[in-house]
Amino acid sequence: MLTFSTTIQHGIQMLTLRSLTKQIGGLRAVNEVNLLLEEDEIVGLVGPNGAGKTTLLNMISGICPPTAGTITFCGEDITGLKADRICRKGIAKTFQIAESFPGLTALECTMIGALFGNHRKTSMADATKEAVQTLDFVGFPDKKRDTTIKNLNVVELKRVQLARALASKPKLLLLDELTTGLNPIENKEAVGLIRNIRDQGTSILIIEHVMSVIMGVSDRVVVLDHGEKIADGKPFEVVNNQRVIDTYLGDIDAF
Ligand SMILES: Nc1ncnc2c1ncn2[C@@H]1O[C@H](COP(=O)(O)OP(=O)(O)OP(=O)(O)O)[C@@H](O)[C@H]1O
Ligand SMILES: [Mg+2]
Repeated sequence: MLTFSTTIQHGIQMLTLRSLTKQIGGLRAVNEVNLLLEEDEIVGLVGPNGAGKTTLLNMISGICPPTAGTITFCGEDITGLKADRICRKGIAKTFQIAESFPGLTALECTMIGALFGNHRKTSMADATKEAVQTLDFVGFPDKKRDTTIKNLNVVELKRVQLARALASKPKLLLLDELTTGLNPIENKEAVGLIRNIRDQGTSILIIEHVMSVIMGVSDRVVVLDHGEKIADGKPFEVVNNQRVIDTYLGDIDAF
């Protein structure tokens, strides 16, 4: 397996997964995955459908507990903590299927991140200001701030999800297929936005099937297949890895 050598790391360790495993009935959706993510790093997570990518992010964010292994975040063992506690420690996530709070407006939905996503005491006025700024930052149209979630298109929904996650001021952002459904121009904009988020001090673990996005943003790429990590290295090394070509890249028309 192509591995990221621990000897060449210089950054501060933010997230460490050790032998992380999720057993679902008879299926090992994630099987003893080890992964390191440094401060200010963007790591791309790819692999075929059903490889275990979403399950891995769900374990990190506390949506489902691992059956074995550990998760360390900023030096603290957070294995098995509930999602709300993990969010307040500084890990925010967007979802592969963007559906949340259908009756709230885009602004209200984003305010949830500012109000409940961290330990700061935030007034409604400050949360409103924060939400407006964050919606602007992610390119959400001003005139739709008061539109209800159920009346937004998929691109707008993804932007609100991202804004809600960012409004909690995360140290680590987990993105699950943020650019699915976007056209090539929107993909390019998303690459710029993701880099901007990192430049403002947030580390990112991003799942994507669109390889131009992964290659555009990632400092490092990790590949999962059948729940196991099969490669971990610099993007150009990983896309030229024969096992990755055979199990994943050979099947997709993503470049
Ligand atoms: N709640 C669940 N109940 C049963 N099986 C599940 C559940 N969640 C995930 N799985 C199974 O675990 C495996 C990994 O699923 P997961 O959604 O993590 O894959 P993925 O890599 O995100 O795939 P995709 O690229 O299609 O989003 C799949 O075989 C899936 O069917
Ligand atoms: Mg998934």
